[in-house]
Amino acid sequence: MSGSSTENKVKKANDYVQENRVPKEELPVFHIAPLCGWMNDPNGFSAYQGKMHLFYQYHPYSEVWGPMHWGHCVSSDFVKWEEMPVALAPGQTYDAAGCFSGSGIETGEGHLLVYTGVTEEDQNGIKIMYQNQCIALGDGTNYIKSENNPVVTGDMLPEHFSRENFRDPKIWKEKDGYYMVVGNKTDEGIPQVVLFHSDDLREWHYVSVLARDREGNLGTMWECPDFFCLDGQYVFVASPQDLPADEELHNGNNAVYFLGEYDRNRHEFDYNQVYSLDDGLDFYAPQTMLAPDGRRIMIGWMQSWDSNIRPVGQKWACMMTLPRELRIEHGKILQSPVREIEKYHRDPVCLEGKEINGICRFPKICGRVLDMTVEIMEGDYEEFTILFAKNERFHTSLTYLKKKNMLEIDRTCSGMVRDTIASRKVKIKNPKAGLKLRFILDKYSAEIFVNDGEQVLSTTFYTPKDAQDICFVCDKTATVSIKKYTISFD
Ligand code: FRU
Repeated sequence: MSGSSTENKVKKANDYVQENRVPKEELPVFHIAPLCGWMNDPNGFSAYQGKMHLFYQYHPYSEVWGPMHWGHCVSSDFVKWEEMPVALAPGQTYDAAGCFSGSGIETGEGHLLVYTGVTEEDQNGIKIMYQNQCIALGDGTNYIKSENNPVVTGDMLPEHFSRENFRDPKIWKEKDGYYMVVGNKTDEGIPQVVLFHSDDLREWHYVSVLARDREGNLGTMWECPDFFCLDGQYVFVASPQDLPADEELHNGNNAVYFLGEYDRNRHEFDYNQVYSLDDGLDFYAPQTMLAPDGRRIMIGWMQSWDSNIRPVGQKWACMMTLPRELRIEHGKILQSPVREIEKYHRDPVCLEGKEINGICRFPKICGRVLDMTVEIMEGDYEEFTILFAKNERFHTSLTYLKKKNMLEIDRTCSGMVRDTIASRKVKIKNPKAGLKLRFILDKYSAEIFVNDGEQVLSTTFYTPKDAQDICFVCDKTATVSIKKYTISFD
């Protein structure tokens, strides 16, 4: 089993975290964030022995990306998470350059993690990176890498498939054994995801290209693939890199889904249109799991690779979204915050039929850690704005541009000091008379669920914590109803 060099590296990382953890008060209240250092993609999101486990790409030693470890936390309800020891550290010959993203599954032998082992080779002065799939088995706390690693190698791929871009395995079980889908691309640079099968989790063989960028216009690589059945339909999720913007997608890396037909004999997924999973500023590399009660739950990295706005000197970097329940209605995925958040609702404030004309504030409608639904009725106004995390100097906002049928999220005045992307305008995809907005605010983030989850806009902001006001602005008169709960574990 795993060499002592890996165990030493896990211990070193855990010791470092214990010595350098930032005070709890500095971290988000209910969004998973690293105790110190850098976090990216959610990994190994799975149930094991009745508990929910989330692992994540982790570099404890600095606030920027570095050799990837797997951080770990556990929850009974998707909202209150307990930090666990670091689960994986790089160090074996097959993962010396990092333990990249992957997934987890409960098996008869224990909690199985599947991850990408990255190695680097110097070829005539040029560094070449190789990516292969590895496994580790654990008891929910400690994880031991398999002696057979890597269990899936680039050599198993057909010719002209990349060995350098071959990562992020997502595993699941079917009647005829285990499957794993892995991100990949052809040597010509066409993104695709490849499928592997195993009867026993030890021996794996290549099955098919599950999906490929048919038109060749969806980026350079599909990272973090996921494939599952939801409400009787097959869903394929991926995070394509390097996209130009269009009506549906924004520039850069996006997180998207496709619905389509799965040919089980040929193991090919034929998809329809591409849809974005989040229209805000910070959302990438989501992963789903099947909860023990049958719900499909998704969590994403609430961060964009390109727009990092966190303050200099902050000793922790990046966070996850609140886990979201997924469902399909009228051929689209809808998302809602996990229902368990309601367990932590405190101090309800309910306002009905309030008229807003100009700038308006309401007593007790304030705070930075809350769940607030605002229903704006149809009216003759053109613009309606909600400003939050606000004080005299700073705010973040969501504006409903009714005439244009658009929403604009804007953190320009949130206190950020870099000239990086601060706002985004998106079409309301399924416009109705009026608008329903549910704000999930934690200290440094907002996830805004539009019209019962038809769209979500997520963004981070690092405004000083005393900016607690919420304010409503309308250019004419709008009637609103507001329901607000503080979220607290006390
Ligand atoms: C996505 C990603 C993955 C990779 C990981 C490395 O954000 O680039 O493809 O496994 O991050 O940290």
